[in-house]
Amino acid sequence: MATRKIVKLGDDILRKKCREVDSFDDKLASLISDMAETMYRYDGVGLAASQVGILRRVFVVDIGDGLHEFVNPTMLEECGTQIGPEGCLSISGQQGTVCRPKKVKIKAFDRYGKEFTLTAEDYFARAICHENDHLDGVLYIDKISQEEDAGE
Ligand code: CO
Repeated sequence: MATRKIVKLGDDILRKKCREVDSFDDKLASLISDMAETMYRYDGVGLAASQVGILRRVFVVDIGDGLHEFVNPTMLEECGTQIGPEGCLSISGQQGTVCRPKKVKIKAFDRYGKEFTLTAEDYFARAICHENDHLDGVLYIDKISQEEDAGE
């Protein structure tokens, strides 16, 4: 495993649409392991492949209950709304208030190509939506309803 360099706001890569993963190989496994290590190193709760410069539909999330990996995810259901603060490892030192679904149901594959369906609520749902947006070049700042300073 290795920590990868995080792409920062202003780089065009963050605005590109990621492509589907077509082979569940060692390269994908290394990418996911590296993404997890990078996320933990920088105290993030999620990281998308585009944030380490790889335009593939992959993201990882850990809100404190262990690593969740999502490859080629499809959002199946979104319901309710929640409003809360969000930040992004690609946008240092900033936070903003974003409205997200309260609950989501998502289908995806793990690194071995095994399909799963997961239901997430509250903060977990927020993290999943944030990362899933990255795969289409969408950042939380596009959806902000109120800007805040992260503080000194
Ligand atoms: Co982000």
